[in-house]
Amino acid sequence: LIYIITLVSIGYLLGSLNTALIVSKLYGINIREHGSKTAGLTNTYRVMGKVAAFYVLLGDVLKGVIASVIGLAIGMFFFTDPFMHSVSLLAAGVGAIIGHNWPLYFNFKGGKGALTSFAVLCMADWKIGLICITIFILITLTTRYVSLATITATTIAAILSCLPVFDHTPYFSLLICVMALVIIIKHRSNIKRLLKGQENRISV
Ligand code: G3P
Repeated sequence: LIYIITLVSIGYLLGSLNTALIVSKLYGINIREHGSKTAGLTNTYRVMGKVAAFYVLLGDVLKGVIASVIGLAIGMFFFTDPFMHSVSLLAAGVGAIIGHNWPLYFNFKGGKGALTSFAVLCMADWKIGLICITIFILITLTTRYVSLATITATTIAAILSCLPVFDHTPYFSLLICVMALVIIIKHRSNIKRLLKGQENRISV
């Protein structure tokens, strides 16, 4: 257990570097006071434009990937069992997601965690990641509701992780379902706006 907590903590310290908050500070604003008030990629694009969004995309994906790679490397150093390799990868990855959502350096007020979760998912199972990003892009382009695309792709990731064809352990499926649930709960204000027909559309 101490091993897992250590990996989650390493991921947490890395994930707490919420790129949207850092980039918006560099632009002289607080992203949490503008647009949807979310410290994430979509709102950065909405409020600060393409260049800022690019930095956030890079930062939030990279920290998920780096945390997972660190977890995997530590796992491979200490264990020979492939199960422990994936446990280690996921522990550090989940830490990064928790850090992104509730960052240590920003009063525990972060983003919704979709992008960092996506990066960790791709590290754990790139096939599910590829299906999800395809669905996400299709829904975003057709409806221009990023939140709807995120919620749908997230739900599909949870379903796919449970399908026997992807051959995952019940622990893995459960973890992906919990990650998905966190993302969906974080989108509750978006869901309310979607139901009322008041959600912001993104201009692409
Ligand atoms: O992951 C965030 C996205 O799905 C919605 O972002 O800023 O419209 O709440 P936002």
